Amino acid sequence: MNPLMVAAMETDSPHTLKHAYIARIYTQAVMTAAAARFTIHPNDSDRILGKSEISRNAKGCRFLFISVTERITAGVIAALRPELQLIATLSVGTDHIDLAAARRHGVAVVTTPDVLSAACAETAWMLILGAARRGQEAGALVRSGTWQGWSPTALLGRGLTGRRLGILGMGRIGREVAKRAPAFGLAVHYHNRNRLDPALEAGAVYHADAESLLAHSDILCLCAPGGSALSGFLDARRLALLPSQAIVVNIARGELVDDDALIAALSDGRIFAAGLDVYNGEPALDPRYLTLPNAFLSPHLGSATQETRDAMGFALLDGIRAWEAGESAPNLIL
Ligand code: DGY
Repeated sequence: MNPLMVAAMETDSPHTLKHAYIARIYTQAVMTAAAARFTIHPNDSDRILGKSEISRNAKGCRFLFISVTERITAGVIAALRPELQLIATLSVGTDHIDLAAARRHGVAVVTTPDVLSAACAETAWMLILGAARRGQEAGALVRSGTWQGWSPTALLGRGLTGRRLGILGMGRIGREVAKRAPAFGLAVHYHNRNRLDPALEAGAVYHADAESLLAHSDILCLCAPGGSALSGFLDARRLALLPSQAIVVNIARGELVDDDALIAALSDGRIFAAGLDVYNGEPALDPRYLTLPNAFLSPHLGSATQETRDAMGFALLDGIRAWEAGESAPNLIL
């Protein structure tokens, strides 16, 4: 255990233990609010920590604040028990946490649904537009200093109007993406485990199986949660179901995509372009993406706006307050 933490803990009575390890540095407003509520032990380096570092650094803390970059396995949870009682993750996704182990150990888990849906949808639209209008090549041309001026035929993209947007995973984020589609003249199709109520569906066309959705997606937007069930979902067979010159966008998790298959389809031009925010093995994404002019890439910044990251942090603090009061909260998932 960190010696500073031991010293701090010795001054606490068992009933006032409020030690919290903060594995990544949240926004200033959230850090200030957290410091007012807990004895915080931040990872000041903000470096992504490995499992053994987390197990060591957070030992003795009742609260563990993490993000999508920390893998909280059964081993980490066991190492941090019995003191650890709650994990707060600055994410809506929970695929980086062994929830079954948390449940077994009686560790609560708090997440950040809802508050990030609009920001993630905005990122999806950035990717859709960037992919459709050749944003990677356009930016590179301007920056190269070799742009010769306007041309009737240079960098022609794919228009959106009149096309079909297929959404895999029509949860809160998927629905926010869908809500913005009429402004671009796109019809929305979707596949979800369950069909939505008509009010939530808002005119979108439901496909009971994912294959049918693919066949109707001029633009496919992956919004489904990560987790092994969908690992490798977009493989060569499924990519072949997309209409020719389709666009693929991923704001969910890299593991949904078979990189070999997508890179092959982008290289031979069968897929017009991809807009990717998430990657297998990120941040060490497959280097072949970097050489593809039709890959419009962003660095996992789905929810990355100042106001959203503030709201996410405050949602965690609210969820913890509810947990401490023995109340339920929508973001208290365990
Ligand atoms: C999430 O919330 O799961 C995102 O991927 C991180 O912002």
